[in-house]
Amino acid sequence: MTQDASLFVLFGATGDLAQRMLLPSLYALERDGLLPGPLRLLGTARSPMDGEAFRAHVAESVRRAVPGGELQEEALSRLLARCDYQPASVDDPAALSALSARIAALRGEGDTLVHLSTAPKFYGPICQALSAGGVADARMRVMLEKPIGHDLGSSIAINEAVAQVFREAQVFRVDHYLGKEGVQNLLALRFGNALFEPLWNSRFVEQVQITVAETVGLEGRGGYYDESGAMRDMVQNHLLQLLTLTAMEPPSHFEPSAVRNEKLKVLRSLRPIEGEDVATHTVAGQYTAGAIDGRAVPGYADELGRKSRTESFVAIRAHIDNWRWSGVPFYLRTGKRLPRRATEIFVKLRAVPHSIFDGEGARPEPNALLIRLQPEERISMMLMSKTPGLDRGGLRLSQVALDLDLHDAFAHERRRIAYERLYLDALQGNGTLFVRRDEIEAAWTWVDQILGGWTARGQEPKPYPAGTWGPTAALALPERHGHSWRE
Ligand code: BG6
Repeated sequence: MTQDASLFVLFGATGDLAQRMLLPSLYALERDGLLPGPLRLLGTARSPMDGEAFRAHVAESVRRAVPGGELQEEALSRLLARCDYQPASVDDPAALSALSARIAALRGEGDTLVHLSTAPKFYGPICQALSAGGVADARMRVMLEKPIGHDLGSSIAINEAVAQVFREAQVFRVDHYLGKEGVQNLLALRFGNALFEPLWNSRFVEQVQITVAETVGLEGRGGYYDESGAMRDMVQNHLLQLLTLTAMEPPSHFEPSAVRNEKLKVLRSLRPIEGEDVATHTVAGQYTAGAIDGRAVPGYADELGRKSRTESFVAIRAHIDNWRWSGVPFYLRTGKRLPRRATEIFVKLRAVPHSIFDGEGARPEPNALLIRLQPEERISMMLMSKTPGLDRGGLRLSQVALDLDLHDAFAHERRRIAYERLYLDALQGNGTLFVRRDEIEAAWTWVDQILGGWTARGQEPKPYPAGTWGPTAALALPERHGHSWRE
């Protein structure tokens, strides 16, 4: 029986993610009275420090993340009063058993939620240590950060090691995109309206584009990123999750098994990209020096400090081989140092079957739906409208956007960090917005094939100047099929 957590244990509590996102999210939940009353927070990391020093670290992280005037000192004090710290390191068994003893002493009546915000190679050993310490029982849940592995084999190894200690229902794999308001709104839009579903198939949809564009470069994470590249860092998780939510069948309920079963079916229906298709259906790129927003930025190799064959950009023409999507291309692209930050899903419908208008300016453009998730949440429907005028040469048409700005529509609602939603759900034991093992492994299977194809063909990333939309080959990818990227 799942109960609210009464102890939250954060591994990697002094790390960058904890400082920027995790501790500020806990503060926000505290401020809004959403943390379970008796909840204790136990931070752990290698650094030796006492509870006092950890509380100072939490306070500093929260102060840095929350704009000055908005900080509620009283909420911060309440959060700090819940916090303790216990140092531990995977190669120090005595410290790990002291940590388990501390967990046992603090856990209280409810469940224990453990968030592993560490390098994934430690997930197995940490779970083993918790088990050896006698605390990894049915009342414990673990949250795992991405990336789960580097490829299918290593992801299976990590999942197996965790599975030796915890049942799948106790494992909460994070893809922080699922915690984003805009991403959940995709489900609301699709399954809360009767308008879209009848059109949401190959009969009416001509193509779908999913873009996750970033302006940032390596952000000091070169060591990690250069080992991963855009395919492992973004496509394997965030882009494929967006694809599943866009393409999946309606689940019967908004609950963990129903939603994740449908997502899995999409991943398993992805057509493998192999052989010659690797060259014609995928493009990898790496940025060179350029400019973004009028500011000069260095190239990837300069930022990294050496030459590298790692891709910072990927574009893919994917297909989902099922009844609903047969023949509809899904164009995916993501990259760093692109001209603007934008996460969006663009669904372009087919043209009207027959136009009753003729004459200049009367050609109906196909309708399209643009779902913008970041930086602002906005939904735009491109419709054809009559251009005002007397039209003596025949009626003229123009494309206009029916625009919904969700910031305006919900101006009084607070915008949340993705981790607030994820923490709230994990504390309560709701796994709907977490990724199941079979999803992760299906995603790796598809991605591995492409990566393997690149290696087999000796395919190197093509250069693109920072501040452009990727290598020219990426433009050609849809153009060969009479399509073009939305910009
Ligand atoms: C992370 C990637 O998962 O997502 C980063 O590791 C990337 O490389 C980030 O910058 C993007 O997240 P967001 O929330 O800024 O879109």
